[in-house]
Amino acid sequence: MIKLHDKYFEPFISRQEIDAAIAQMVENVKADFKEETPIFICVLNGAFMFASDFIKKYDQPCEISFVKLSSYHGFSSTGIVKTLLDVPDNVEGRSVVILEDIIDTGKTVKELVSMFSNINVKRFKIASMFYKPEVYSGEYNIDYVGIEIPNKFIVGYGLDYDELGRNLPEVYQIKEN
Ligand code: IMP
Ligand code: MG
Repeated sequence: MIKLHDKYFEPFISRQEIDAAIAQMVENVKADFKEETPIFICVLNGAFMFASDFIKKYDQPCEISFVKLSSYHGFSSTGIVKTLLDVPDNVEGRSVVILEDIIDTGKTVKELVSMFSNINVKRFKIASMFYKPEVYSGEYNIDYVGIEIPNKFIVGYGLDYDELGRNLPEVYQIKEN
């Protein structure tokens, strides 16, 4: 068990499970994009570790770029999504695959979809390492999901609790009481 700020967290998803899920996602994305050179867009900060492992396994021509939004503070979404680093300008006519850390309520996904909606991309897909299906209330159908998890707060593998825990190589779940 570990402590971050005032909360305790216990091991939840191992390195092996994460690796296996990413390998499967890479196979699915490769099958869909084999004739193209996709641009992977890593959503900072949380997806940096996932994006790094994902593209190291993606052994086909590809590019990587970054966007940065902000919305989440502590345990519950504030509902405010700001763009801190905008869509790169070379995506016109290209195939884009968003790499996201986790999809919770879907506010961030909605914002990402709208950020790209006024750009003429060839194809647009979203891949998320983790996904909370019980909470997601968005309209966009997530294209690639690594691991589905229940509605419980997690940290590690890029995900934070008030900025702590991103460096943990495995995923921990909050320990209630
Ligand atoms: P959404 O906009 O509500 O879907 O939330 C997505 C964002 O909230 C993610 O990109 C994360 O930064 C953050 N988030 C959602 N759930 C968790 C969690 O369990 N742990 C840490 N961050 C989370
Ligand atoms: Mg995030």
